[in-house]
Amino acid sequence: MAESMKGLRRTHRCTEVSNKNIGETVTVMGWVQKSRNKGGIIFVDLRDRSGLLQIIFEEGDVGGEGFAKAEHLRSEFVIAVVGRVEARSGAVNENLITGDIEVRATGIRILSEAEVPPFPIEEDSKTKEELRLKYRFLDLRRPDLQRNIMLRSKVANLTRQFLTEEGFLEIETPMLTKSTPEGARDYLVPSRIHPGSFYALPQSPQLFKQLLMCSGYDRYFQIAKCFRDEDLRADRQPEFTQIDMELSFVDVDDVIDVNERLLKKMFKESIGVDIELPIQRMTWAEAMDRFGSDKPDLRFGMELRNVSDIVKNCGFGVFTGALEKGGSVRGINANGQAGMPRKKIDALVAYAKDFGAKGLAYLSINEDGSYKSSFAKFMTEEELSALVKALDGKPGDLLFFAADEDEVVFTVLGNLRLEIARNLGLLNKEDYKFLWVTEFPLLEYSKEEGRYKAMHHPFTMPMEEDLDMIDTQPGKVRAKAYDIVLNGTEIGGGSVRIHQTDIQEKMFEVLGFTKEDAHERFGFLLDAFEYGVPPHAGLAYGLDRLIMLMAKEDSIRDVIAFPKVKDASCLLTDAPNIVDEKQLKELGIEIMPEADK
Ligand code: AMO
Ligand code: AMP
Repeated sequence: MAESMKGLRRTHRCTEVSNKNIGETVTVMGWVQKSRNKGGIIFVDLRDRSGLLQIIFEEGDVGGEGFAKAEHLRSEFVIAVVGRVEARSGAVNENLITGDIEVRATGIRILSEAEVPPFPIEEDSKTKEELRLKYRFLDLRRPDLQRNIMLRSKVANLTRQFLTEEGFLEIETPMLTKSTPEGARDYLVPSRIHPGSFYALPQSPQLFKQLLMCSGYDRYFQIAKCFRDEDLRADRQPEFTQIDMELSFVDVDDVIDVNERLLKKMFKESIGVDIELPIQRMTWAEAMDRFGSDKPDLRFGMELRNVSDIVKNCGFGVFTGALEKGGSVRGINANGQAGMPRKKIDALVAYAKDFGAKGLAYLSINEDGSYKSSFAKFMTEEELSALVKALDGKPGDLLFFAADEDEVVFTVLGNLRLEIARNLGLLNKEDYKFLWVTEFPLLEYSKEEGRYKAMHHPFTMPMEEDLDMIDTQPGKVRAKAYDIVLNGTEIGGGSVRIHQTDIQEKMFEVLGFTKEDAHERFGFLLDAFEYGVPPHAGLAYGLDRLIMLMAKEDSIRDVIAFPKVKDASCLLTDAPNIVDEKQLKELGIEIMPEADK
């Protein structure tokens, strides 16, 4: 039987009670973590979002009826306890904030009883994630998830505080809107009033924030839900949250400056981590060349080295073949790994092939300075020692080489570098290495579509000094675009926007849009630009990714209260689901049989 709160008022959360309250009467409420009946005395660990507090029930204090209630308690019952705070009678529990005290109950109410939960409510759950997500409301009671969700709230708050002090206005933009060109597939919402027409859920507030700049709001931010129908990974959700911002009358350095100070405050005041400013910057070209990635993890070395010049006349067809096709040969040095068993090397070769490598050549340097290698027989002594020198090889080192077109070589070695670091345990989650990657290419060529696409989005400003190449060598033009990278994850990105009509028109032309296409899709923004547009720039963080790294989690599902799984479904609510015939009819929608799709 569930009792009411009538006349009761909570005085403290569990861990707000401390040895300063000894002798006082407190009223605490929460869930029974554990209850132990030792005959005439019952010990209960009471839990709320702040932590645990030990309650002691003895008939002499709580009365016969109260003691009977205490005897009836099981895990996850919700109770209210009135009692006296005392120094802990037994041994002090160093692992608990409240480990030196206990509350001797003088009254108890059972506010709600509970079924036996399908898995224990505990830290570091060993329960399968599918089951946890089906019972997410229970999973969310676990202390690690509660910490993550509280951290998330804290970071959102610090962000609001900081940006407001910096003169940003928090402005909401629509969820039911027209599709924005962010590259992913849109989630569509059918319109009842306009049968056959659809809204799109926003992939980001991009166009609206630019309109807000046209409207003179000067500095905007929003903690915005974004929707992208793309294939999910550990750091991607179909519905995710951005800390989104846009600023007027600024250039790259202004955006970077305010964001560095935001990050500094966020990390210091939420997890006590000091970020040294300024954050390191690296151009996209340098990041690719040194790390094979546009989001390099700087927690370890193992940098890529270009050895094309050394092997250009060698007898190894794999290398020279790649060079003849305009590619390159590059290597990395896994320091001290010469002893790596063949099986592990084979696994790395297989891993490289998953990323498109046709093969992976390796060379280990024995302690006596001799080599063991998959390709030494094709090379001269001079070539081999030049290779070793180029990679700073020392006895005990293991070198890997990939030969292919640049794009493949970068992908393969960039990922191999990370895999080796993971295998060797080099990735310390306590170590926060930030990096701005700047000067991204403006365009990337899509082989599938046979045309250039915007690397960030079509409103990104080319670098002024590259503008004259836009017709002749569009692939070489760099953009005023930047990403903020943390430990190999892109936590945010943005750009200076085009505010000059002629450059915007040129951009659309390069992207293969006709004037009509461009107006059909982005007419409202282009119109706005006709009426006085300030130069503007912005950036958006992936809040989920940011919190994932702050909380030292491996999956963004662990920092989202109600996440979706790999196939974009929600195991708790069973969304997406089939809807009534009547609802479809109102929308003028008929479902095609699966076979006709
Ligand atoms: P972008 O597309 O780079 O830029 O997105 C910004 C940041 O959002 C995060 N992110 C995601 N997080 C979780 N799940 C996803 N599916 C997902 N997709 C992106 C990333 C990314 O860095 N409008 C521009 C920003 C701007 O130019 O101001 C934009 O959306 O951390
Ligand atoms: P093969 O002649 O195909 O037996 O290859 C000889 C060696 O070169 C093996 O170690 C292969 O794994 C390696 N190899 C093959 N293709 C490549 C490539 N594209 N880049 C680097 N090494 C390769």
